[in-house]
Amino acid sequence: MSIFEYNGSALLAMVGKNCFAIARDRRLGVQLQTIATNFQRIYKMHDRLFLGHSGLATDAQTLYRRLVFRTKRDMKPETFASMVSALLYEKRFGPYFCQPVIAGLGDEDKPFICTMDSIGAKELAKDFVVTGTASESLYGACEAMFKPDMEAETIAQALLSSVDRDCLSGWGGHVYFVIPTEVKERILKGRMD
Ligand SMILES: *[C@@H]1O[C@H](CO)[C@@H](O)[C@H](O)[C@H]1NC(C)=O
Repeated sequence: MSIFEYNGSALLAMVGKNCFAIARDRRLGVQLQTIATNFQRIYKMHDRLFLGHSGLATDAQTLYRRLVFRTKRDMKPETFASMVSALLYEKRFGPYFCQPVIAGLGDEDKPFICTMDSIGAKELAKDFVVTGTASESLYGACEAMFKPDMEAETIAQALLSSVDRDCLSGWGGHVYFVIPTEVKERILKGRMD
């Protein structure tokens, strides 16, 4: 099993009109054994910027703490993504084994989403980004369900149908739906096994 897959995860972000949503599964495991059923993988950097991590949970937490230390004021999502990328690339010979997802609202409420690999190579997208052990099925679900300017329900359905096809992620989900004026949060119930 790859080091990225030990703890299992599913993570995705989608874009709508002047809004975005970011969602995660809730399982933490050590290989096939489930350790926790509500593991936090999405962090709020500020009201309009969220960071998610898939991969090795311990590295994800370390990386998050280092990023908090470096974030002094509210940053634009593009700037923040560059900072995460630089931090990961700096450690390229002994990388953090995680793949971040960054989602935020930038100037004029324009949504920004991006993912990167463990050494900070950014992948920008206009529609959705996915990472984690469930990423193969997430790609399929998102390709099928994504339409421009749609509502928050889509991301929930994409997440729930994908984690059922991956035995290393699951136990429901957690969605943040962000519009310029507010952040809505929802816990999803799925198959609890
Ligand atoms: C994640 O997986 C590693 C490797 O199996 C394990 O040692 C660790 O306890 C798991 N959990 C966390 C929080 O890293």
